[in-house]
Amino acid sequence: MAKFPDEKRVSLLRRRGLACLLALAFWPSVSASAAPVDLRLAKEKFQQLCAVCHGPSGRGDGPAAAALNPKPRNYSDKAFASRITDAAMFEIIKRGGAAVQKSPAMPAWGEALSEDEVRSLVAYIRTLMPPREK
Ligand code: HEC
Repeated sequence: MAKFPDEKRVSLLRRRGLACLLALAFWPSVSASAAPVDLRLAKEKFQQLCAVCHGPSGRGDGPAAAALNPKPRNYSDKAFASRITDAAMFEIIKRGGAAVQKSPAMPAWGEALSEDEVRSLVAYIRTLMPPREK
């Protein structure tokens, strides 16, 4: 008499088990995708690592900038903000100025910072820029 319900339960369990397996199989790819940007941490990093050249508010006027030629750009400049893409910023932060045919004075941060941190820095730099021109 119990045969029928039991079979049902078993197949239900089997189906659940399969769903769990599938979830586990896909979990790593889901969790490996981009973490949300962390603007607070990026601001800290920018002050720690970048402001010496880029200036505390990204105007290219950090204490070390006086000795640089070319100098870092002024992020409050609307034309520059509209011209540079997030992808270009990501590249130069990760690989350094020399790797993208710009000033070798801009260090590569790909070893010191994770890609999520670089992405967060790009988002933070955007907050220092005026809105893009259409
Ligand atoms: C030792 C000085 C120095 C430090 C430290 C430095 N940069 Fe730069 N960075 C430069 C210079 C110089 C340029 C300009 C390169 C050019 O235009 O040829 C530059 C260029 C850039 C650019 C391209 C746009 C621009 O400003 O011209 C980005 C984005 C950037 N830096 C981000 C960062 C970030 C983020 C950090 C910290 C993690 C950082 N930089 C640290 C010197 C520095």
